[in-house]
Amino acid sequence: MKTRILEVSEEHIDENIIREAGRIIKEGGLVAFPTETVYGLGGNAFDPQSAKKIYAAKGRPSDNPLIVHIAESGDLYKVAAEVPEKAKKLSEELWPGPLTIILKKLPVVPKETTGGLDTVAVRLPSNRIARALIRASGTFIAAPSANRSGRPSTTRASHVAEDLDGQVEMILDGGGSAIGLESTIVDFTAEPPVILRPGYYNKKRIEEIIGPVEADAGLESDAAPKAPGMKYRHYAPKAEMTIVEGEGAAERIRELVREKEEQGKKAAVLCSEEHKDLYRQGFVFPLGGADNEEETARKLFDVLRKTDELGADVIYSEAFNTPNLGTAIMNRLQKAAGHRIINTEEVQE
Ligand code: TXA
Ligand code: MG
Repeated sequence: MKTRILEVSEEHIDENIIREAGRIIKEGGLVAFPTETVYGLGGNAFDPQSAKKIYAAKGRPSDNPLIVHIAESGDLYKVAAEVPEKAKKLSEELWPGPLTIILKKLPVVPKETTGGLDTVAVRLPSNRIARALIRASGTFIAAPSANRSGRPSTTRASHVAEDLDGQVEMILDGGGSAIGLESTIVDFTAEPPVILRPGYYNKKRIEEIIGPVEADAGLESDAAPKAPGMKYRHYAPKAEMTIVEGEGAAERIRELVREKEEQGKKAAVLCSEEHKDLYRQGFVFPLGGADNEEETARKLFDVLRKTDELGADVIYSEAFNTPNLGTAIMNRLQKAAGHRIINTEEVQE
């Protein structure tokens, strides 16, 4: 299949392109499209064959459920069997936007879309291209992040083309993703509700709206996380990555880079904008500044892909425990690092 890449601007949406893209989805084909979080790999949410195509294109295990994207908040009731008061309140407050809610599903949503579960993940994105596409499709759009399984999520159309060229009919190029991290997932089939994946909206923000929620214990420990997708190795660059945190982290990273370079290895360093001049050796990739965590979030997946292009053997990353997005950023970094962390303040045995 030949993949067509078409530019679409959020300010002046080309209706002809959207109409054609919508028709592809309705007829069972796949279209990758921009959202405010990351690019999605979309297919018809009510069509079991479309779900199978998505799993095949991604190389993703079919027990890993897909998020159903809707364009109007009322459409929630067309896929969810029960909408608890708190789910209603949170979605009214944060939709359209980077929030996904898990609810009991209606029978019309096929098990192929939900990875065999009787619950459904629903999201109403704020990106206008995404919403126009959902409307034009005349259905709802099942979409995981538009990357090959295990690779970093995609925040530009060129990343999507790298991973999925020849696997999708069309890629809508809407420019760089505004947020760059996937949506916050909140499971309302439990009480109190549980955050299954941290994202742009953090625990504090959610609790301001609906009161106490839990964070899935599996996120921090080795216990199996409840969002099936969170158990897989993720966002993984080809290089072996390590997070170095604590007092004197920069110094430790410098030593490690020196050691690796002496062994003839290519080392990449991920650091804050302020720290970039601390590193004289290795390939340095500055993320955002200390007071610009949004920039760190936006750049993260792009930088992980760049370390691959560079052919890095090892990556050392500073920790980014920033005030609002720190939990979400560190969740992605820890997965990319396969949980390899050096804390300089811990006594070495
Ligand atoms: O920002 C986003 O959420 C992006 C854009 C494209 O919308 N989508 C996205 O999809 O990140 P994906 O498939 O890469 O991640 C969805 C996560 C997976 O970890 C999956 O296991 C979990 O959501 N999930 C989906 N449906 C679920 C359900 N019914 N119960 C529990 N977890 C679910
Ligand atoms: Mg994903």
